Amino acid sequence: MAVLSRSAAVGIVGAGAMGTGIAQVALLAGHEVLLGDASGIALEKAQRALEAALQREVEKGRLDAATAAAARARLSPILPDEKLAPYDRCAIVIEAVHEDLDTKRSLFAALEEVIAPDCVLATNTSSLSVGAIAAACRRPERVIGTHFFNPAPVMPLVEVVPALRTSGDVLTAVKDLMKSWGKTVVVASDTPGFIVNRIARPFYGEALCIVEDASADVATVDWAARELAGFKMGPFELMDFIGNDVNYAVTESIWRGTYFDARYRPSLVQKRLVEAGYLGRKTGRGFYDYAAGVEPPRPRQDRTLGEAIVQRILAMLINEAVDAVRLRIATVSDVELAMTKGVHYPKGLLAWGEELGFGRVLAELERLRAEFGSERYRPSPLLRQLAVRGRAALEELE
Ligand SMILES: NC(=O)c1ccc[n+]([C@@H]2O[C@H](COP(=O)([O-])OP(=O)(O)OC[C@H]3O[C@@H](n4cnc5c(N)ncnc54)[C@H](O)[C@@H]3O)[C@@H](O)[C@H]2O)c1
Repeated sequence: MAVLSRSAAVGIVGAGAMGTGIAQVALLAGHEVLLGDASGIALEKAQRALEAALQREVEKGRLDAATAAAARARLSPILPDEKLAPYDRCAIVIEAVHEDLDTKRSLFAALEEVIAPDCVLATNTSSLSVGAIAAACRRPERVIGTHFFNPAPVMPLVEVVPALRTSGDVLTAVKDLMKSWGKTVVVASDTPGFIVNRIARPFYGEALCIVEDASADVATVDWAARELAGFKMGPFELMDFIGNDVNYAVTESIWRGTYFDARYRPSLVQKRLVEAGYLGRKTGRGFYDYAAGVEPPRPRQDRTLGEAIVQRILAMLINEAVDAVRLRIATVSDVELAMTKGVHYPKGLLAWGEELGFGRVLAELERLRAEFGSERYRPSPLLRQLAVRGRAALEELE
């Protein structure tokens, strides 16, 4: 296969939030970029957004004007009526179209009619199976996941996701390409939610359980997560920021993808918010009311209560990270990198578990399991080993 060098042309299909961000990253890494969309309006909007982003970089002194002009000149917009033919000169095409399996499968099948035999096909899917997308292709060995985070020019992490039939050469070439774009690369197995979205589930889910069983209110949980645990945002602030519709859909998709594992069960409270149109900041109301003049609710700044909240959420997060390692979803170091670089957790969860003591984490899960009688709180078999043998049990897996 072709080496994905700086002189390789990069194709991007889908010029929404993600496609535009990825285009900016590839342009600034020195590539010629072909950016297309089924909608001419979306494409024009993307061109304006790219122009404004480059301009902003120049104004902030992070980019010189000549480099920005050269990047701009390397962009070729592909108009809807040109169809896919221009992508024939690309060494890699990254799709960032809607999150819909049929759309992605038909796009890749159509791209295969025009692209070079050694062109790589990458998908930016965040919740679909890369293998299911690849199965629509004549050459599934050239298909791989490249999961960027939003906004792509700012977020350092890319989860590279080989499917069962992805070739080793394609994996190596894509990892090297992402690194040459300045990204922090982790390799995730093709499982629901990959690394970050899966391991982060309890941050939202356990916070929702705490509120549902009236152990604490929304503002107090957020206060505890921020002030006592050091997260940048509390879970409810973050759900409102992401959008409750988007956050709920990710949880539901992972729950379905894991055959309804109780650990990922979505929350009825969040579902009702979505149904009511309380999607978060974007609609002016979510868990919080963002209307002008509305005072945010005050947290109960009770340290004992706050520490109990943090202990419960952290125990679930650490158990999830440990189980991801046990299931070989990613290596120990990639799990740590993914959560610190992809969602800015203050510490890697495995290091955090070691600091708290894996025995304490296990005891908290067993307490919750006894109290609620739910499989949701079952400890990972690896957590039990860690509680007895310490970090040595992890090192054997590296
Ligand atoms: N937004 C995020 O936070 C985020 C983060 C990581 C990954 N993703 C994933 O990235 C992908 C894109 O997400 P987005 O938020 O940029 O979506 P978006 O809705 O902003 O953009 C999608 C674009 O694809 C275009 N499109 C749809 N079908 C097409 C087709 N067949 N051919 C060409 N263009 C087509 C649409 O016109 C639209 O402009 C999805 O798979 C999503 O799950 C999104």
